[in-house]
Formats: sequence, C-alpha cells, structure tokens
Amino acid sequence: MSPAARDRLELVHSDEPHAESFARDVEAGLTASPKRLSCHWFYDETGSQLFEAICELPEYYLTRCERSILEKHAPEIAARFDAPVTLVELGSGSASKTRLLIEAFLERQGGLVFAPIDISQSMLRESAHLLLDEYPELRVQAFAGRYESGLEHFARRTVAPHLTLWLGSSVGNLDRPQAARFLHGVRQRMDPTDRLLIGIDLRKDAEVLERAYDDAAGVTARFDLNLLVRANRELGADFDLEAFRHRAVWEELPGRVESHLVSQRRQRVRLDALDLEVDFAEGETIHTENSYKYSEGEIEWLAENAGMRREAEWLDANGLYSLSLFSPR
Ligand code: AVI
Repeated sequence: MSPAARDRLELVHSDEPHAESFARDVEAGLTASPKRLSCHWFYDETGSQLFEAICELPEYYLTRCERSILEKHAPEIAARFDAPVTLVELGSGSASKTRLLIEAFLERQGGLVFAPIDISQSMLRESAHLLLDEYPELRVQAFAGRYESGLEHFARRTVAPHLTLWLGSSVGNLDRPQAARFLHGVRQRMDPTDRLLIGIDLRKDAEVLERAYDDAAGVTARFDLNLLVRANRELGADFDLEAFRHRAVWEELPGRVESHLVSQRRQRVRLDALDLEVDFAEGETIHTENSYKYSEGEIEWLAENAGMRREAEWLDANGLYSLSLFSPR
C-alpha cells in the first residue's frame, strides 16, 4: 500500500474478551439432544475460503442475485441521501459487492468514509488496502470486533447520515425472534437520518433451495464437514470424516434450510481436549446451520419488530432475492 493510502486508513480493534469458546460450545452441543454445533464456527481460514467458493457456485444463487441488484440500483440507492453518507458495513469480509456502492457514493459525493466492522482483523486490513489503492478519494475507518461494539463506536465517531449494510442474507442464520432483537439493537444506535440496507433471501421452491445448500461439486458438504476437521485439530477429536455425510433439507413451516451432518453408522467419537466420548446412532445427526428464508410479509414483520419500517425494496430479475432499505420509526 502506498504511504498516501496508509494515511487514509484507521483500524481500531475492540479489547473486549472473547466470550465464546469453541471448546465450551462443542461440549454443550454434542451432549445435547438433538446434537448441534453452531454455524458460527464454520469460518476458520479453510471455512472462509470454502465459503468464498460457495459464493461462486452455480447452485448458490444468493451472491449473484445480490450483486445484480447492486449493479443495477447502486446509483439510485446513493441518490436517496441528500447529505454525504458514512457507509458502514457489518461483516464486510472481502467487501467485493460493496465496491458497487462505494463507487456510486464516490460518484455522487466526491469522497466517502467507509466504516467496515468484522471479527477478522486480517480480512479488514487486506480489503482496506485493496480499496484504498483503488479509490484515492476513499477513507477507511475499520473496526475489528463485535457488530454491536462497532456500531456504538461509529455512532459516536462518524457523522450521520450512516448507511449500514448487512448483505449476503446473513440475517438468515439467526432465528426470526433473534433477528428482530439484533436489528432492534441496530435501530437503537440509529440517527433519524440513518438507514439500513439489508439483503434477505426469499422463500422459494424446495428443490432450488436444497440444491443451493447441497451442490453437485460437494463444496458445501466440505464446508459443513470442516466443523469436524476443526474439532479434530483443535480439540483432539477423532471424527472419521468418511463416517458423516452432509444433508440439507428445506422445512416449509419454519421456512428454513437446515444443514445436518448425518452419522453413517453407529460410532463413538472421542474428544481428548474435553475428556469426552460421544455416541452416535446410525442416521443420528448434528444440526449445524439454519438458513431462514423470508416472504414479503415476513420481511415487513422483521422491520416492524425491529422498530423500523421498510422504505424501499429491490429484487433481482427472477425475484429470488430481496434488498430492502429500512428506516427508523
Ligand atoms: C453466510 N450465510 C448467509 C450462508 C447461508 O446461506 O446461510 C452460509 C452458507 N451455508 C451454506 N452455504 C452458505
């Protein structure tokens, strides 16, 4: 990164202790009935790479749809704001789709402060360097830590209006009441002129959904099984990766795709670091992820229960995916 670009970067990291622990969570999840592991733990280095690969899969339409919406509507989204915007992003990762909005705001307001929040400091640094080299009128104020702490930090240190992005249908990995509670927390830190732009995957045919979460090349299966690889490496477990299969199933009533690791036989797994032995029956599963899908009515419900209202919505050409603009009520 050039010295001039370095002057435009500020990276703060939260000094809160990590409340969660992989070991504690695995112990609780594997001794529960039914067994579960949290999707929170998917994203070690391998898991993050596998997720990037999932986003390129023909079956995983979500990323492509969201990108197509931004390609078409980013200038219109930017034009909704009268005053210069601070662009905040939750879970920015590589910020690849965000570029479309960054370009639209730079075009409209000349300069821009981009304020990404992510748990991974290395990811923030890497993507900030790329963006700053590419856009001389951009400043990046990054926050490494929890979303809530980052929002609090930026509410005090950057100027309104803020446009906060939560892309990728990440809201779908929370159950509906949790999602409303989390967004209510976002709402409480919003100024009346602030807005939230949220990407949400829509309900659709079971077949399309199940293929999106169980692709032909087996990348999603590797992503799911990586939880066991991680337990083997970090907790001295002896999971036999051949003895578990990934399964994705659409459950219409709750409106979610459930991911499970299914035990192919009766087996006992030992986890040295936990001094724990876990028995599996043939066909028994570990529930690893929920990906909730929304109807238009459920998106309205979400906005309402978060203390917001839906001000605008954009869909992709096939109506598979929604990008909604929420404003505080
Ligand atoms: C990150 N999250 C929104 C993805 C999803 O669609 O639930 C994670 C994922 N799991 C399997 N494929 C993608």
